[in-house]
Amino acid sequence: MRKKNRSHKILVTGVGGFIGSHLAERLVKDQHEVIGIECFTDYYPRGMKEKNIEWLKKQPNFKFHEENLLTADFGKILKVSVSASPSRLPERQLVIFHLAAQAGVRASWGEIEIYTENNIRATQRLLEWAKDNRIKKFIYASSSSVYGDTDDLPMTEGNLPKPVSPYGVTKLAGEHLCYLYSNNYRVPVTILRYFTVYGPRQRPDMAFYKFIRAMFEDREIEIYGDGTQTRDFTYIDDIVAGTISAVDAPDGEILNIGGGTRTSVKDILDVLENILQKKAKLKYVSVQKGDVKHTAADITKARKLLKYNPQGKLEDGLSNEVNWLKSTLTR
Ligand SMILES: NC(=O)c1ccc[n+]([C@@H]2O[C@H](COP(=O)([O-])OP(=O)(O)OC[C@H]3O[C@@H](n4cnc5c(N)ncnc54)[C@H](O)[C@@H]3O)[C@@H](O)[C@H]2O)c1
Repeated sequence: MRKKNRSHKILVTGVGGFIGSHLAERLVKDQHEVIGIECFTDYYPRGMKEKNIEWLKKQPNFKFHEENLLTADFGKILKVSVSASPSRLPERQLVIFHLAAQAGVRASWGEIEIYTENNIRATQRLLEWAKDNRIKKFIYASSSSVYGDTDDLPMTEGNLPKPVSPYGVTKLAGEHLCYLYSNNYRVPVTILRYFTVYGPRQRPDMAFYKFIRAMFEDREIEIYGDGTQTRDFTYIDDIVAGTISAVDAPDGEILNIGGGTRTSVKDILDVLENILQKKAKLKYVSVQKGDVKHTAADITKARKLLKYNPQGKLEDGLSNEVNWLKSTLTR
């Protein structure tokens, strides 16, 4: 998607969140007209999300709506007549980045309604609206969690998804809904499977945030298992670049968006000790249900179709997250 192409009106759902706020910021800086929806779920403090969109709210080409996707009147918010027949609309110009979700693997046990409502029902509601309105692209933020625990690495889009957490099941259900609306109503959907994202504004339930904060506060860090589990970590700027380039992807595709390399939890702690110049205090606890041993993204398809080329270097990205977290804690 070209910069400064003002013909794009863009909706970002979950704009107050970690990834949504970064994505909206990039789009606003690129001169697009961006509308953000956010309902401030209580999964983590509202104040963090308010802070994420502080800059955005001051920008003339950004409009914020505190709304829940389960009840929002999308036609009113987007000022496109829902009753207009598709042929009367000038051209397919609305792009929807659907990032709103109830995230978190571990919290998903036993709390399935929050996940089914925000990840499945909210997604279908938005797809229902999209099917009646000509849109240029509907991008669904999915997750590597749909693959489940597999030795078949790297994970390629053709692998049979077998999620091992209720969260993964609901994200996969969202993918299936996208596929249904793409097949039956030609909603121009592209599905992106993000692999563990890190950087400034990372959610407080995520590992790097917890590690860094514990080291700042001289607390023990809980390591699930023996620390040899690996993840394909993806820097936030790469996620944003991959997500924006997906606007021009062929419809109906599923694409992995990963960092391209795998790192163990132990190695992450070494890097953090080096950045913070202090030893981490570790406490080993049992593996958590729903956690997978390894993730590794095969990004061949994204490289080919999106010209996706992740640039994030772990040491630099972690330093940026450390500096951000330090600034929020000392503010
Ligand atoms: N962070 C990661 O590593 C990662 C990895 C894979 C996939 N994802 C996906 O990326 C997306 C963004 O994740 P994130 O880490 O930024 O999470 P986040 O929790 O920071 O952001 C999601 C936002 O959506 C909002 N929201 C939830 N339900 C809503 C509803 N019904 N109406 C309006 N707003 C609602 C929440 O309040 C939250 O601010 C999610 O779809 C998530 O499943 C994230």
